[in-house]
Formats: sequence, C-alpha cells, structure tokens
Amino acid sequence: MRELFCLQTDHTTYLVGVSDAGFVEQLYYGAKIETPLDPGTLREKHAAPYPMMVYDREAPLLGQDDLCLEYSASGRGDFRECALELETQWGSRTADLRYRSHFWLPEKPALPGLPSSYGSEQNLVITLADEALDVTVELHYSVFPSCDVITRHALLKNGQKTSLKLHRMYSAQLDLAETGDTFVTFDGGWAVERTKHEKPLSPGIYVNDSKTGTSSARHNPFVILARPHCTEDQGDCFGLNLVYSGSHAEAAEETTLGKTRLLTGLNPAGFCWNLAKGASFCTPEAVLCFSDGGFNGLSARLHPFVRSHIVRGHWRDRERPMLVNNWEGTFFDFDEEKLLNIAREGADLGLELFVLDDGWFGRRDDDRTSLGDWTVDRRKLPHGLKYLAEQVNALGLLFGLWFEPEMVSEESELYRAHPDWALKCPERLPAQGRTQLVLDLTRAEVRDYIVKSVSQVLESANIQYVKWDMNRHLSDVSSAALPPEQQGEVLHRYVLGLYEIYERLTDRFPQVLFEGCSSGGNRFDLGILCYMPQIWASDNTDALCRMEIQEGTSYAYPQSTMGAHVSATAFHTAGRFTLWETRFNVAAFGCLGYELDLTKLTPEEKACLKRQVDWYRAHRKTLQFGQLYRLPAPKNQMAWCSVAQDKKAAVAGFFQKSMRPTLTHDTLTLRGLDGETAYVLRSRPQLQEAPEREEASQALEEYYRARGDQLNLAGIRLAQQSSATGWNENMRAMGDLSSRLYTLEAE
Ligand code: DGJ
Repeated sequence: MRELFCLQTDHTTYLVGVSDAGFVEQLYYGAKIETPLDPGTLREKHAAPYPMMVYDREAPLLGQDDLCLEYSASGRGDFRECALELETQWGSRTADLRYRSHFWLPEKPALPGLPSSYGSEQNLVITLADEALDVTVELHYSVFPSCDVITRHALLKNGQKTSLKLHRMYSAQLDLAETGDTFVTFDGGWAVERTKHEKPLSPGIYVNDSKTGTSSARHNPFVILARPHCTEDQGDCFGLNLVYSGSHAEAAEETTLGKTRLLTGLNPAGFCWNLAKGASFCTPEAVLCFSDGGFNGLSARLHPFVRSHIVRGHWRDRERPMLVNNWEGTFFDFDEEKLLNIAREGADLGLELFVLDDGWFGRRDDDRTSLGDWTVDRRKLPHGLKYLAEQVNALGLLFGLWFEPEMVSEESELYRAHPDWALKCPERLPAQGRTQLVLDLTRAEVRDYIVKSVSQVLESANIQYVKWDMNRHLSDVSSAALPPEQQGEVLHRYVLGLYEIYERLTDRFPQVLFEGCSSGGNRFDLGILCYMPQIWASDNTDALCRMEIQEGTSYAYPQSTMGAHVSATAFHTAGRFTLWETRFNVAAFGCLGYELDLTKLTPEEKACLKRQVDWYRAHRKTLQFGQLYRLPAPKNQMAWCSVAQDKKAAVAGFFQKSMRPTLTHDTLTLRGLDGETAYVLRSRPQLQEAPEREEASQALEEYYRARGDQLNLAGIRLAQQSSATGWNENMRAMGDLSSRLYTLEAE
C-alpha cells in the first residue's frame, strides 16, 4: 500500500488506501476504529484473476470491475455504472484514473458557482490522473467530526491541448464490499412529497433520480443504504445527500462479484459539458454520513449538520416567526381590506408575520398571466405595497411577499418585450406548465433582470420575508444564447444561474427570511437551504398526509427547515375533515403557520387557535431546534419527539391515524432523553373529540413523572383510550385522526 488516508469523525472512520498499482481504494467506512496496524489486512487478496477479467498489463491480477474504488471511469474494465465518462477530441470514451498526489487544505475551498457546506475541520484532496490524457480529477474530502459527516466533491481539470466533453461526472462514489442492502428513497409528487420507500437490492442497478430540472418531489436526492436488519433505532446505515437543486441521480448497483456501488451527483441524462483546454469542471458537493444507531441515529447526525453547516446567515439559529398566509384563504381574490382584516385577526391571535401570496402584481387574477411583471397591481392594492406593509407592521406583524421570479407568463409585458428569454427550441413552440414558461437563467441579462426587479420591490417597502416559488418542471431545455454544442449544458447552467441570483439577493438583503417553495415541496434540498433557511414542505396540509410527508422529510432535514401550516378543513387536496387540534399538533413539528381566512372562524375556533399559538410560542425553541426522533408506534399510529439540545425539555406528539375499537392501551416510548434525569410529562391542554361527537370538550389532562432511562426504554402507559364500549372522564377520547402533544420538563 503506497498511501493510507484515515478520516476520523467523533464516531466514524473513513479509510482510503492507494495500492501499488495506483488505484485509490475504499478500505473501510463505518463505526470508529483506530488506524489499522496493517492496512493491507483491509484489502481483498487478489491472487488469481476472476473469470472474464479485463486488466492492465502491469497488474494482471487486478480487474477494475472488482475493486472498491473511490472514483471510477468508463472504458478500462469497470463495467459498473461509472462516476466519470468523458469524450476525447478523438471520440473515445476511455479514461484510467490513478493516484498522482495529495494535499491537505487548512480551509475548505468554495466550490466555483455552487453552494456548499462550511465549517469543516479537515480537508483532504487526493489527485487522480489519467497520464495518457493529461486529465486530473481532484477528489475533495471535508470532515465535520461532531456531526459524523464527510462531504465530497470532484474537480476535473483538462490539461490537454484540446477540448473534452463530459458526459457524466458524479460527485461521490461509495464502493462497498458487501451486498444484501436496502436502498431507502423518499419519493412522491405534488401533495405526496418525500414518502419513504424501501427497496431491497439484488444484482442490477436501481436509480433514484430527477430529470425535471429541479431536485423534485418525485425522488429527493437524499437516500439511505441500510445494512440488513437496520431499523429506526438499531443497525448500520449510510445516508447520502447532495447540495444541489437540479436534476440529480443516485445509482445503487449490486454486482454478481459481491460488491455494492453507490453514486450520487448530476443526472447524466441529457448532460454534456464542453471543457476547453485548461478548463475545469466542479461537481456539486455530496454529503456522506454513517450511523450504527439506525435511522434515528442517522437523523441525529444529519440534522445538526444541516442546522450548523448548511443553513447560514441571520436566521440560522433564530426562532422562525409564526405566520399567516392568505393563499388558501383568498387565492387570487383579494383586496387591501380583505388582507388587512386577515392580518388583524392574525395579530389578535398572536401571530407574527403576514404573508401576501400570489396575485399582487401585474394583472394576475388567475394563474395565466403576469409572471415576470413584478409591479404592484393597483386595482387590488390602490395604496401600494409600502402602505400595506406599514399597516401590517402597525399591527405588530412582519410583512412578507410571494414571488415566482424564474418564470414568465406569455401574457406579460416581460414576454412581449423578450420572447427569447424563455427556454425554448428553435423548431417549435415551448410546452406550457401552469400556463407559464421558464426563464433562461443561463443568460446574464435575465439574471440581472430578476435581481433588479426583485430588489426594487424589496426596497420599495418593509418586506422582511420572501416566499420564493417555482411552479413547473423544465421542458424545451434549450437556450437561444448558447451555440448548438453547448445545449447539453443548459440544465446545469440554469441551476448555476439560480444560485448566482440567490447569492446576489441574499447578500443584498441579509436580514430577509427567505422560504423556498416549488408547488409545495418540489425543491426541498440542501442547495436551497444554503440560501433559504426554510422550505414549504408541501401544499398538502391535510393532517394525515402531512404526518407521512413530515416524517419522510425528517430523515434528512430538521424541523427548523420545514414550513408547516394549519389550513381550513375540507382542504382542497384531500377534502378530509380533521380536528383543528390535530392539524396543529402535526404542524407544530415544523415552522408553524396558518393558511386560511381567519376572519371566517367562529369565536370558539379563534379561542382554540389562540391557545395553540401561545403554547407553540412557549415551546418553539424545542420544537424547531430540538432533535427529532421517530418513535415506536403500531401501524395505525405515529409518534415523534423533539428533544431540546440540553435535554432539559422535550415535546412528544402522539398521532392516531385510525382508531382500533379494542386496542385502548397505548405506550409512549421516547428517545434521546438523558437517562439520569427525572422528567415531568404533561399533556397540552386541548380539545378532544367529544365521546358522542356532538361538541368539542376539554381533553383529559395527563400528568406523569418518569426518569429518562424509563422513558427511552420502557416508556409510559398513557391513560386508557375510549373504545366502542365506553367512555368516562378518566379516559382519552380519541377517534380517527386524533392526537395529543406532551411536554417534558426536567425536574
Ligand atoms: C404553489 C405554492 O406551493 C402555494 O403555496 C402557493 O404559493 C401557490 N403556488 C401560488 O400560486
């Protein structure tokens, strides 16, 4: 072994070795071990070739197809999905990467044009080279010891005298010398974002990807590779995520030679990047994490990483304001008076931020017009935004505004002036989505226009929050400003353009709280979170659907990043009746908001909401910044707890999706509490379903005392649930979709 690199975090070890033949090999990634006495003991022994092996004449016993490589290239006998595929001037697609050198950097360098994590403690660069081509690939590793995270990205330099084409270049590769794992992905679509699915791997390739131009609700870039028998609380698993907001791919390949390869990075579909002589290409950053404490253990490492090394700026550690948003209350049909009435009610309830959603600009009475024309519609708001913001501020609320700056309506001044600013192919009219087109962010003048027009609005009034929406997938991916050979760059250049816009706007308005949004949670990823501390998780605020969506999201993303609202019942995505209290109890595990016409509430409903808001304010820090654990629960229930960072407080949520008449004894088992500490548990005073379902009544107030070790391991038996056979005031009356919250306080 020529070199050994040992990356240590507090609880994990990542070992990379360089073989005598120059292959940079993955030796170990898992729970912490000391530097091995003899690293050779971690290498597979190659004393004879395997059948059909393709090998290098200098190393006849080594076939690339059966090595655990840190980064692979196509063409020299590695027949798995490869990390790199380039095309030379000659037209060949073969590369052979071997170790050339390495160095350590005192600070993590910025990734050109791309957002990335910050605050690493060690930074290693291993340079691979294809000597025949004069191409190098730098593998960058950054270590975040206390979060047990290692990030990686790759930088290719074309040292040739001619240009190259890149057909694929992934960010990171993990080659494991075992099989039999389960690939866990978070999939869905509009209103069903990030639902967890488990796929047992078998020989072949499974690809989790998005080709929509966004990270997408279809398949989030976060994936888990779970070792056999891994559960929420036990077992080994690897988490991979990507600091990127565009089309991505995560391939998991199990081979018949007994290896598993994981790749994550830019989606190769439709990708072709031209690299002039002397030029470089940098991939987005990948985030790697290992846990031997199951999925909860993984989340407990990834959440602090996201909170402290991805999210940044003024709002990073600040409690997020409770908001009221007018969208579901009014849709496009509003005027100044209607908005101010909602804001007044919001202020009375104790809310802190009023957000004016879609429809305030151009002449936008439905979703067919005006995107791109970011000037206030005086028909609806005769006194303008400044006045409206002042009125809202006078009520004691912050004022926030919705934008969708990446889009243009054909029915707009902007499109009439610049039809070539939309993505479109020369041969045909562009396809529509929500009657709108996508602006060509590869063009500097388009980016300048967006920065200028959004800045003008933000400077025109006291706007302290921006909801940045994006409501369609990219099609007709072609730019009138680029030559034919560069059209394969448009998808990635779009995302780079978006990041440049974010960079400029967040620099200029550092105190504004930006919330990302894309038809709900269609772009919920670490790239967005580098600029926007929170993202609207889903347009679906039905409590039952939200349980699944928020739980799925929680595997990789902390509660402080999740916008979660209470909306009117018979909500338009599910049409289901759920109790106010359950809608709140679910939304409480995120950045709370209300999204309805508050003026239409009855006095009883207002009183109920006011109690919710006051209670949330008192426990907000624990709910937004505590560590979330998914708790054991039978199939018809779900339970979570959020434990304050000092473990002196926690909030637990107990949710019942459907009642089972004879199952009336529930155990609430927690996680993450300090075993030695005694805690007092109290149920949140709330309304419950009345036993006869006629009117709401006050829920039984529960009180328990227990030590952390008991709560973590044995739990507590809650008061009996009412069943079909009886009810009295010592019982919890719980039907379908009912829930309770419990606070825990250290004595
Ligand atoms: C989609 C978002 O997800 C909604 O919250 C709302 O802002 C609409 N767009 C407005 O058009």
